[in-house]
Amino acid sequence: MQRAETYNDTVVRQFAVMTVVWGIVGMLVGVLIAAQLLFPALNFDIPWLTYSRLRPLHTNAVIFAFGGSALFASSYYVVQRTCHTRLFAAPLATFTFWGWQLIILAAAVTLPLGITSGKEYAELEWPIDLAIAVVWVAYAIVFLGTLAIRKVKHIYVANWFFAAFIITVAVLHIVNSAEIPVSMWKSYSVYPGVVDAMVQWWYGHNAVGFFLTAGFLGIMYYFVPKQAGRPVYSYRLSVVHFWALISIYMWAGPHHLIYTSLPDWAQSLGMVFSLMLIAPSWGGMINGIMTLSGAWHKLRTDPILKFLIVSLSFYGMSTFEGPMMSIKTVNALSHYTDWTIGHVHSGALGWVAMVSIGMLYALIPRLWGRTEMYSTRLIDLHFWTTTIGIVLYVAAMWIAGVMQGLMWRATNPDGTLTYTFVESLKATYPFYAVRLAGGVLVLGGMFLMAYNVWKTITAANATTAEQPVLQPAHG
Ligand code: HEM
Ligand code: HEM
Repeated sequence: MQRAETYNDTVVRQFAVMTVVWGIVGMLVGVLIAAQLLFPALNFDIPWLTYSRLRPLHTNAVIFAFGGSALFASSYYVVQRTCHTRLFAAPLATFTFWGWQLIILAAAVTLPLGITSGKEYAELEWPIDLAIAVVWVAYAIVFLGTLAIRKVKHIYVANWFFAAFIITVAVLHIVNSAEIPVSMWKSYSVYPGVVDAMVQWWYGHNAVGFFLTAGFLGIMYYFVPKQAGRPVYSYRLSVVHFWALISIYMWAGPHHLIYTSLPDWAQSLGMVFSLMLIAPSWGGMINGIMTLSGAWHKLRTDPILKFLIVSLSFYGMSTFEGPMMSIKTVNALSHYTDWTIGHVHSGALGWVAMVSIGMLYALIPRLWGRTEMYSTRLIDLHFWTTTIGIVLYVAAMWIAGVMQGLMWRATNPDGTLTYTFVESLKATYPFYAVRLAGGVLVLGGMFLMAYNVWKTITAANATTAEQPVLQPAHG
C-alpha cells in the first residue's frame, strides 16, 4: 500500500531532474561556442553547427530550459509548503511540464535549422510563441490558483516574487512577440524601426529583471532561510525590496540602446533608473546574506549554503556592475565588448546557476524522501569547480572587454585608428582560452552533480522498494 503524498510533488520531481539535464545541455553548447571562438573550424562546415545558430541555442537552453525548469520546480514546491495546500489544477501542472519540454525540443530543432525571428532571447518563431503563451497562462493559473486556495492568511514573500515573475513574463512575452506570420516558419514584428528596438529591450531587460532575477529571488527567500535554519533577516526589508525592485526594473530597458537612434531622453531615463536599481538589488542581497546572522559557522561545513551565499555575492556584484555600465560614458567603452559578456555571466552563472544548484541540492533529497544527498563531498567539489570556473570566465572577459574597448578607441596623432580590428581579436585569444577553461570547469561540475543526483535517486528508490510504505514528504 502506498500512502498518498501530502503535496503534489510528481511535477516538482520532473522539473527538478530536467533542470540538471538542461543545465548540462545548455552549458555544453556554451562550452562548444566558447571553443569555436578560439577554433572556428569546430563548426565542421556544417550549417547547423555554426556559431550564429548555436549561440541562440545556448542562451535559450540555459535561460529557458535550465533556468525555467528550476523556476517551475521551485515555485511549485514552495507555493505548496507556504500555502499549506496541494497544487491547484494538478492536471494543468502536468500539462505545463510536458508543454514546456516540447517547447524546448522545438527550440532545439528550429534554432540550429536557422529558423529565428532575430530578436534576442525571443528568437523562437510564431507557432512556438503561441505555445509558450498557452503554457505560461496555464502556469499562472496553477500558481495563482494555489495562492487563492491557501490555508493560511499570509502570503510568504517568496510567492510575491514568483507571482510577479510569472505575471510579468506573460505580459512581456505576449507584447514583444506580436508579429505577422508570412509563412509557417517566418514572421515579422508588428513594431516599426526604433519602436521595435525599444519594445525588444523593454522585453530583454525585464527578462533579466523578472525571469533571471525576481524568480530566483523567490528561490532565495525560501531556500536561504531553510538551509540556514534562521528566519529571513528582515521581513520588512523583503517587502520594500519587492515593491522597489518591480517598479524600478520596468523603466531601465533603454540602457541597452545607448548611443542609438532611440531619443536621448529615453536613454537618460534608462540610465537613471538603472542607477536607482542598485538600492533594491543590494537591499535584497544584504537581506539574504544577513539571514545567516548567528549561523555563519554553518558555511564551514555546508556546501549547499556556500552555493547560496556565493550566488548572493555574485548577485551583488553584477547589480553593481550593471548600473555602472548603464552610465553613458562607461557604456561607450563597454558596449560591443566582452565586458558585457563578463557581466552577463557573473549574473547568469554566478547568481542564477549557483542559486539554482544550491536549491536543487536542498530540494532533491527532500523530494525523494532522503535526509541528504548521496555525497556531500561531491557537492563541495562541485562548489569549488563552479566558483573557480566562474571567476576564470568572468575575470577573463572583464580584462578582454576593457582591452578591446581601449584598443578600438585608440587613435594616432593624425586621427587614424591605432589598431585594426583583427589586432584586437588576436589580443583577445588568450582570454578566450581562459574563458574556455572556466567553462569546462563549470560544465565538469554539472556532471558531478548529475552523478550525485542519480545516486541519491536510485538509493531512494531502492529503499522504497524494500519498504511497503513510502516515506512521507518533508516540508
Ligand atoms: C559552462 C558555462 C557557460 C559557458 C562556457 C558559456 C559560454 C557563452 C559564450 C561563449 C557566449 C557567447 C559570447 C559572445 O558572443 O561573445 C555566451 C553567451 C551568453 N550566455 Fe553563456 N555560457 C555558460 C553558461 C551560461 C548560463 C548558465 C547562462 C544563463 C543562466 C548563460 C547566459 C548567456 C547569455 C544571456 C548570453 C548572451 C550574452 C549577450 O548577448 O550579451 N550562459 N555564453
Ligand atoms: C541592477 C541591475 C542591472 C543593471 C542596471 C544592468 C545593466 C546592464 C547594462 C548597462 C548592460 C549592457 C547593455 C549594452 O551595452 O548593450 C547589461 C547587459 C546585460 N545584462 Fe545586466 N544589469 C543588471 C543586472 C543583471 C543581472 C543580475 C543579470 C543576469 C542575471 C544581467 C544580465 C544581462 C544580460 C543577459 C545582458 C546582455 C544583454 C544583451 O545585449 O544581449 N544583468 N546589463
